[in-house]
Amino acid sequence: MYNFIFHNPTTILFGKDQITNINGYVPADAKVLITYGGGSAKRNGVIDRVKNALGNREVLEFGGIEPNPHYETLMKAVEVIRTEGITFLMAVGGGSVIDGTKFISLASFYNRDATDLLKFGFQSITHEVVEKVLPIGVVLTLPATGSEMNDGAVISHGKGKFPVMSSMVYPKFSVLDPTITFTLPAKQVANGIVDAFVHTAEQYITFPVDARVQDRMAEGILQTLIEIGKINVEQPDNYEARANMVWSATMALNGVIAAGVPQDWATHMIGHELTALFGIDHGQTLAIIYPAVLAEMKAQKQAKLLQYAERVWNIISGSDDEKIELAINKTRDFFESLGIKTHLSEYGVEASAINDVVAQLEAHGMTALSETGKITLDVSRKILERAF
Ligand code: NZQ
Ligand code: ZN
Repeated sequence: MYNFIFHNPTTILFGKDQITNINGYVPADAKVLITYGGGSAKRNGVIDRVKNALGNREVLEFGGIEPNPHYETLMKAVEVIRTEGITFLMAVGGGSVIDGTKFISLASFYNRDATDLLKFGFQSITHEVVEKVLPIGVVLTLPATGSEMNDGAVISHGKGKFPVMSSMVYPKFSVLDPTITFTLPAKQVANGIVDAFVHTAEQYITFPVDARVQDRMAEGILQTLIEIGKINVEQPDNYEARANMVWSATMALNGVIAAGVPQDWATHMIGHELTALFGIDHGQTLAIIYPAVLAEMKAQKQAKLLQYAERVWNIISGSDDEKIELAINKTRDFFESLGIKTHLSEYGVEASAINDVVAQLEAHGMTALSETGKITLDVSRKILERAF
């Protein structure tokens, strides 16, 4: 197991009606800006419930944060914060709203060109760069990204999606009420299951470092998602199934299973280019790319793929190669059982566009991906061809 430092400061308020408890976690004299997306949180009454829970505090709203949040939109919120003297941000939404709010928080006290903040990649933005941020509270409406309990965001700018990390923007608290997610369309539920699954797998199907707790927790999350995936898509108001989905998605990317282990992230980096170029949903891009990454990187990932086949899918007969092959096929079948197509060609993309994706990977410095850095541009091209 590698050395690690683990700290996660986010308080989780899990379960029905937990919105009513946010009063205890927001300063009494706070001037609050509620940030939200295209309007689902308005229509289903969640924003009104948040306002009620905030009582007498002064509350303003900023809506219109789009999926894959855009820099320009977020900078409009920064203007509101500066003119109104906002002291607390309440993000009500899925990964895009939460990520966008983290960026707003960082940019609000950054007095130079805020596109600078998109250039740090996976390097954490520290106090030396941004002296101060606005505290963030979250009401999660879409279980998928884990953004409700982590220090990351992904921001769209021009033709790219840029990771932004900072330990200063962990939410102070996050409300995880599964009933708030009942209004999600089936497509978003399926996307969320795939996102949580691939987050877990990208921290697990790498190479062994004898991290037994992390491995078994990852296997537990993957098996849970396999058990409850289809139920969540087909029964949107099944509380127990949704509660397990919500907690799986949070645990998949809050740092617990990442501690002390190698991490891959190639699928996410290639997937981000597919979203930026073709507008394919984040979860869909992962369902397209991940089976192809596993197949292409079979030799590098052999030991963990075998462990995955045996422990997650209970594949106990056949040669090692046959077990691995079957596990990869079962992974793809699982994504498809949720209603997600797993080939790039099924999203109206032409084969010639693979060149554009590779060019964007190069432009963004994504030339040595995966847990070993061995996914060069040539290997990414092979992965995209397999995924086509
Ligand atoms: O905008 P509204 O009207 O709210 O509709 C949203 C949006 O259209 C809708 N929705 C959300 N909650 C709903 C709902 N509709 C009905 N009822 C509800 N309760 O769902 C649509 C998609 O929302 P979005 O927030 O974009 O989805 P998701 O949570 O999948 O977030 C995707 C974004 O997160 C980034 C992705 O790159 C992408 O930009 N990621 C962030 C990560 C992180 N911070 O750690 C890691 C991830 O790997 C990911 O890259
Ligand atoms: Zn993801």
